Amino acid sequence: MEHAQTAQSKPLDEILRVAEQLPPFPDVVQKVMPLLERMAPVEEIEAVIQYDQVIAAKVLALARSPHYTRTQPARSLKEAIVSLGQRALVEVILAACSARFQYHAVQGYDLRDGELWEHAVGTAIMADRIAERIGSAERLTAYTAGLLHDIGKTVLNHYVDHYLDRIIQTIKKRKETFLEAEREILGIDHQELGGLIATRWNFPPSVVSGIAHHHSPQESTENGQVAAVVYAANRMVAAMGIGAGVDGFLNPNQDHVFETLGLDVRTMEKLMADVFIALEETKKFLSA
Ligand SMILES: [Fe+2]
Ligand SMILES: [Fe+2]
Repeated sequence: MEHAQTAQSKPLDEILRVAEQLPPFPDVVQKVMPLLERMAPVEEIEAVIQYDQVIAAKVLALARSPHYTRTQPARSLKEAIVSLGQRALVEVILAACSARFQYHAVQGYDLRDGELWEHAVGTAIMADRIAERIGSAERLTAYTAGLLHDIGKTVLNHYVDHYLDRIIQTIKKRKETFLEAEREILGIDHQELGGLIATRWNFPPSVVSGIAHHHSPQESTENGQVAAVVYAANRMVAAMGIGAGVDGFLNPNQDHVFETLGLDVRTMEKLMADVFIALEETKKFLSA
């Protein structure tokens, strides 16, 4: 009886089925990366990018934004690819691709249209800046994991919405974190589900681990530093009031992570000010 009740009250099977049915992540980046690595002629890179018109438009818009333009605005896609440089090019493609999955509202987490998306891009930029600051060679990994860290919310959203009263009761009664309550009521939390989605999308284990442990970097076995960077980035972006959502301040606090990464208050303030400006700039062309 107890077992039947538990099975009935946890919609885990359905959640996993819905996650399985998500469309694949566009493979533009997988196609572009090897070309960049072997320094392929720009025409080859252009051929891959122009195939997807939405992404081509974002690449052009970014290369025309004053923030990125050193000399004069790019006049063609080819010029845009050359002027952006490898990392900015890959990052804008990733950001544009991920918008298809996380731009919409996730009302279960109290986030309106575009709010999860802004939180994701902010966390990606912050993770990249932190990685740069600590001299990590994994800036792109940090950016990607930051961008997709809450992707599990897009699937859990509907169930969190439906079971929100029970989740909140559990948090209050048992003094649990939001994450623990998700696991208890739904059978899985949004970080673990995000890891499963990223695995299915064929992201490398370091990205998967950064997503799957963004609230618990100490549990990451793959590369704890990426998870720690995403953890710190997520906390800082939430503290800036960007897409914190219903669970933003109800998740586990691991303040020692900031210390481990060598992030003191002054450094964090500087990073937050920089990321605020970068995010405003990025939003302009990504929504263009
Ligand atoms: Fe999260
Ligand atoms: Fe987050």
